[in-house]
Amino acid sequence: MALTALRPEKVLLLECDVLDSREKAPGCRLLRLDLPEMAPRIEAGQFLHIRPAGVLTPYLRRPFSVYDVPASPRGAVDLLFTVIGSGTYALGSLRPGTRASVLGPLGRPFRFASDGAVSVLVAGGIGVAPFPDLAKKLIAAGSVPAKDIRAVLGARSRSLVFCREDFAALGVPCEVGTDDGSEGFHGNAVQLTARVLEGLRGQPVRIYGCGPEPMLRALQKLCVERKISGQLSIDRRMACGLGICRSCVVRVKDPAGPDWHFETVCREGPVFDTETLLW
Ligand SMILES: Cc1cc2nc3c(=O)[nH]c(=O)nc-3n(C[C@H](O)[C@H](O)[C@H](O)COP(=O)(O)OP(=O)(O)OC[C@H]3O[C@@H](n4cnc5c(N)ncnc54)[C@H](O)[C@@H]3O)c2cc1C
Ligand code: FES
Repeated sequence: MALTALRPEKVLLLECDVLDSREKAPGCRLLRLDLPEMAPRIEAGQFLHIRPAGVLTPYLRRPFSVYDVPASPRGAVDLLFTVIGSGTYALGSLRPGTRASVLGPLGRPFRFASDGAVSVLVAGGIGVAPFPDLAKKLIAAGSVPAKDIRAVLGARSRSLVFCREDFAALGVPCEVGTDDGSEGFHGNAVQLTARVLEGLRGQPVRIYGCGPEPMLRALQKLCVERKISGQLSIDRRMACGLGICRSCVVRVKDPAGPDWHFETVCREGPVFDTETLLW
C-alpha cells in the first residue's frame, strides 16, 4: 500500500517477513526484514517505523534508522537497536518466520557532495546505527573515498561500542572513545571529535552526528564555533511518523531573519543542519 495521498515521495505501508533476528553485541540486536519493494528506495539517514504484525501491543510503531541494505539477500533491510522498553523488547522477540508491519522509508536523508571535504561521522552509542549505511553510500556514489571518511565512535564503556567491524570492512578509519576509559580515548565523543579535527587541520570537513541529545547539542556547538558544516540526526518520541500528529516537533531558525518555526522530526527531519536547529 502506497501512502501517496499523505506523502508524494511514496511511503509504503507493508507487512513483511522477519528473515533474521540475533544479538550482534551484548544488548544490541540486529533485525533483518524482507522488504524488496522498500529497500531500493532507502536513502542513508532515513528510518522505518515498525511494530510486530497482528498484535495490538505495542500499539504505536517505533522508529529505527536503517542500518544496512545488504547486497545479499536481495531486498533485505537491517535495523540495529538496543532493548530499552516494551517496544524494543517486542521487536527484539521477533524471530524468523514471524512478521512485522513497516511504514517507510521515512524522513529526509543525509545530504552529501563530492567537494573534497572529509566526512566525519560522529556517533554516540547506538547512534552509530545509520552510519555504516551512510559510509557505504558515500563510497558507492563516488562522493567520498573511504580514506576521506572518519568514524568517531563514543560510548559509555567498551561493551557499548558498536559497529567497529563495519567500518573496518569498508576501509574507513575509526576512532573509539569511552567515557570510562575502558577503550581508546578517555572522554566523550565530542572531545574525541575535537581531537580528530586537530589531525585534519587545514582540510575542509563535513560533520554528521547521531546520538543522545546532550552529545548532539555539544557537537552542534563545536560545529558552529569552528564554522564547520554539520548535519545531525535527532531522536524524538514519535506517534504517526507522517507529520500529522505534531508530537515530534523541534524549533528551526527561519531562513531569513531572527524568527523560528516548528518542524517535525519525522517528516522534515530526522536530519537537521547545525546552523538552523534550535531544539
Ligand atoms: C529517527 C529515529 C531513529 C532511531 N533509530 C534508532 C536505532 O537505529 N536504534 C535504536 O536503538 N534506537 C533508535 N531510535 C530510538 C528508538 O526509536 C527508541 O529506543 C524506541 O522507540 C524505544 O521504544 P521502547 O518502547 O522500547 O521504549 P519506551 O518504553 O518507549 O521507553 C523506554 C525509555 O527510553 C526513553 N525513550 C524512548 N524513546 C526515546 C526516544 N526516541 N528518545 C529519547 N528517549 C526515549 C523513554 O523515555 C524511557 O525512559 C530512533 C529514534 C528516532 C526518532
Ligand atoms: S510523529 Fe506525528 S508528526 Fe512526527
